[in-house]
Amino acid sequence: MSDLRIAVFASGQGSNLHAILAAIADGRLRASIVLVVGNRPEIGAFEVAREFGVPAKLLTSAQFPDEPAFDRALIATLEEHNVGLIALAGYLKKLSPAVVEAFAGQIVNIHPALLPAFGGKGMYGLNVHRAVIEYGCKVSGVTVHLVDSDYDNGPPVAQRCVPVEQGDTPDSLAARVLELEHRLYPEVLQLFAEGRVKVNGRRISILRSGGP
Ligand code: GRF
Repeated sequence: MSDLRIAVFASGQGSNLHAILAAIADGRLRASIVLVVGNRPEIGAFEVAREFGVPAKLLTSAQFPDEPAFDRALIATLEEHNVGLIALAGYLKKLSPAVVEAFAGQIVNIHPALLPAFGGKGMYGLNVHRAVIEYGCKVSGVTVHLVDSDYDNGPPVAQRCVPVEQGDTPDSLAARVLELEHRLYPEVLQLFAEGRVKVNGRRISILRSGGP
């Protein structure tokens, strides 16, 4: 096990969180999930956290009078758990510049399309897959990228494709993409765990295992 301590942030069902924890359990990912952060009480991700015995924290905008207070609480929780990497997995609240700065280069997100297409505000859930199909794309895919303070804007760490099949609906395309997400996210986190992700502006290279 590497000593990479990951916090997963989620707002939804938590299937990516589940895939990451399963990868840790079977040894494909040598890191620890030390904290799950959610911004709504009734989310599947909290059930997944319970199932795997991972500490979880609910932090909502309603609990805090202003954005700086929310940020202070979030940063304090992350520091308490000694978090080295934040993995956003369907987290729908935008991170403020203060949080992005505090964890510069240590926040990744997974997006269910090939950025920079079909990203940005409003592009989440089935909206993404509907837009891909309506555009007439022949491929879609998954992007794991570093996070900056704009939606879906940081440089890609990894991208993979899936075909868009004739007759696909947003649901059928979403299912194909999600299956790929579940494989790709643990693989990318393992690259971070091995210290193989090298950032040079927007160009991210993956160092060979055992040396550059
Ligand atoms: C995934 O499709 C992810 O790409 C997007 O939100 C969805 C989260 O799903 N950012 P889950 O909560 O991990 O099941």
